[in-house]
Amino acid sequence: MSTRPAVPAPGTPAPGKLSLPELEGLKAAGRPIVMVTAYDYPSGRIAEAAGVDLVLVGDSAAMTVLGHASTVPATMDEMLMLTAAVTRGCRRPLVIADMPFLSYQVSDEDAMRNAGRFLKEAGADAVKLEGGGDGAIARIRALVGAGIPVMGHVGLTPQSATALGGYRAQGRTADAAVRMYDEALAVEAAGAFAIVLECVPSPVARRIAERLRIPVIGIGAGPGVDGQVLVFHDLLGLYEGGAPRFVKRYAELGELATSAVTAYAGEVRDGTFPAVVHGYAIADDQLGAFEAAVDERERARARR
Ligand code: KIV
Repeated sequence: MSTRPAVPAPGTPAPGKLSLPELEGLKAAGRPIVMVTAYDYPSGRIAEAAGVDLVLVGDSAAMTVLGHASTVPATMDEMLMLTAAVTRGCRRPLVIADMPFLSYQVSDEDAMRNAGRFLKEAGADAVKLEGGGDGAIARIRALVGAGIPVMGHVGLTPQSATALGGYRAQGRTADAAVRMYDEALAVEAAGAFAIVLECVPSPVARRIAERLRIPVIGIGAGPGVDGQVLVFHDLLGLYEGGAPRFVKRYAELGELATSAVTAYAGEVRDGTFPAVVHGYAIADDQLGAFEAAVDERERARARR
């Protein structure tokens, strides 16, 4: 009999991990699905402790964590490092790695290689990619065919925000809404296990969620979808600048952190920190021996 601990076979979910059938079951049961972004071990741990269902290592990291003006500069190496840190912090939630710009747009081969790296090197459970056009649909089909779970993303797709006319709601005319509806259906037909709808009029999003079998996760898509996602830094007040209208801030951790670091700086400067309790003691006899030894060294150095 083997004494080795049970390690899940490659491609098998770890024990306790939310499974894809369970996720579909949440939609069937009408239980809202909770998704949040995370970008490192502490945010992964917080998402786990809060009991969220899905954790997205979003390419929004380019903005929230790396300080870029858009998601476009995110690289595979950056996203792999962040994803690996998040997966170390998450046991139950399904961890989805966001494929960065140009890691999948060029060819199925690129998409396979890069998505495979997220699973093999960073421990992600699934990947997300943006778009509902022919290229994106071909990629989803190829990845799903290779056994890689894929989440789709239509509506406002930030990697192509410039082409969409900026960060603005999509599907606000009947024609545009029908195109988006068709894209969402195509994403499902290609085999995606779920889809994000971003910045979409609430009634349009509701209609799409009613039509799709797979869970529809909204961000700026109203309450009629199957779940919600918010960016970690937005909901915690850790990101400066005007937040889009769909963001609700549940805390002001940026302000809290700034006042804590300000207090620390003040105490270092006025000598209040560190206090005696923050230091380590040494027994009197050891201290005496140390002082004598150092004095002797100093005298010997002076004689040289
Ligand atoms: O990158 C991201 O954080 C996202 C979410 C906004 C859905 O794609």
